[in-house]
Amino acid sequence: MTIPYPNTQPVPAIAAVTPPSGASRPRVTFLGTGYLGATYAICYAELGYEVLGFDVDADKIAKLNAGEVPIHEPGLDELLRRNLAAGRLRFSTNIAETAEFGDVHFICVGTPQRADGMGADLSYVEASVTGLAQHLTRKALIVGKSTVPVGTAEWVEQLVGKHTPADLGVEVAWSPEFLQEGFAVDDVLRPNRIVVGVKSEWANGMLYAAHKGVFDLAATEDREVPLVVTDFATAELVKVAANAFLATKISFINAMAEVCEASGGDVTQLAKAIGYDPRIGNRFLQAGLGFGGACLPKDIRAFQARAQELGAGEALRFLHEVDLINLRRRTRVLQLAADLLGRRSGPAGPDLSGTRIAVLGATFKPNTDDVRDAPALAVAALLHKAGANVHVYDPQGMENARRAVPELTYEPDMAEAVTGADLVCVLTEWADFRNADPSHLGDLVAGRRIVDARNCLDPALWTQAGWEYRGMGRP
Ligand code: UGA
Repeated sequence: MTIPYPNTQPVPAIAAVTPPSGASRPRVTFLGTGYLGATYAICYAELGYEVLGFDVDADKIAKLNAGEVPIHEPGLDELLRRNLAAGRLRFSTNIAETAEFGDVHFICVGTPQRADGMGADLSYVEASVTGLAQHLTRKALIVGKSTVPVGTAEWVEQLVGKHTPADLGVEVAWSPEFLQEGFAVDDVLRPNRIVVGVKSEWANGMLYAAHKGVFDLAATEDREVPLVVTDFATAELVKVAANAFLATKISFINAMAEVCEASGGDVTQLAKAIGYDPRIGNRFLQAGLGFGGACLPKDIRAFQARAQELGAGEALRFLHEVDLINLRRRTRVLQLAADLLGRRSGPAGPDLSGTRIAVLGATFKPNTDDVRDAPALAVAALLHKAGANVHVYDPQGMENARRAVPELTYEPDMAEAVTGADLVCVLTEWADFRNADPSHLGDLVAGRRIVDARNCLDPALWTQAGWEYRGMGRP
């Protein structure tokens, strides 16, 4: 599909508008009940909105209606049950019912990397918007939340125009989300900003009404939530620019880790020292195994692909380097493992056959069960491919990890995973691993060797307990 070059529109003023359903506050729907849509649906019910979540996955919808959150996200279960009981929240697989219910429909479906390249796959956006538009019988606002290539909102507007009668006056807006897994509830209820891309006063007013719960909550807590009202293209770009910046910051510090490795410096102290400068800041400056997950990696690739299409590819060439630095961290762990185990690397990498390695962590970061593009799982697979007998434990990600990489051995707890291991690799910085007792684990392993791929352990503590310790970018 081709996405048209985006138009830039003037920013309209906020007007008071009446929801087309006649309800006092807009009734909201969320299409797609993955991490994004499920969290938003539940949190918006908590803010007092009448909410309907839609998904084509009947199993997921049945679970949600039964009060079961299909993902691990701290705090979400309780909010789901409370709001189902209050009658403000329900979930459905029926698109006609969804269309009939809502004044504001948020599109929250996935936009994964395309199988045939670096660009974003917009087929779920197309399917959800088309399905919804065909069932609308009155005016409504369709708001994109999914992360998309710039120009998608214009294309969605054309789709809506094609599938709804013009006299309904259905409008489109874009409002990116910035939630982080593990903090998703707070990020939705207490966002650090709201960005809306709108073309009309009506859309702006309706979107303001659909966010009023967030502004009201902030007022009761003596906070302010900045609102940025802009055109479609800027709203779309804000999201990918934010993720590109975060990815760049992480790869910057990981590039410094490489230089530290070559020169004998310590990247953790370097990060601390530069982070005291408020212009730099100490967050997202944790060197280690790099970024993964369903967002940062695919977003920087889709951003490059889209910039290339627009003739601005040169401007984002550095993101290719950001990606490469990030991926090199994974092979660095393999090297450290081989060094500690005294194995030489041949042209095909090290031969780790006959060794047993405990992998602690499978998720892409702690406090989630998400293993999509998880650096930890990628390294576990590399170690396995190099011939090691890999035993994995993760506090929440076991089920997803087993499904994604079935060839590894999964253990029920940390003790089982490390028992008899020649090497322990900490690949996700779960609190359980950060707080592990080196003497106790030392009694279980076959060899006291540890790779701390997230720089989350105290090297002094582990070396004092007789462990050979290797961190990332540390001497
Ligand atoms: C990211 C963004 O942080 C959110 O703002 C955004 O809304 C979301 O993507 C999205 O696009 O939906 P998330 O994927 O939950 O959120 O994960 P992050 O907390 O950003 O972490 C990403 C990766 O970077 C993790 O693998 C983490 O371990 C790694 N990381 C993070 C580092 O390696 N070093 C750091 O200093 C920070």
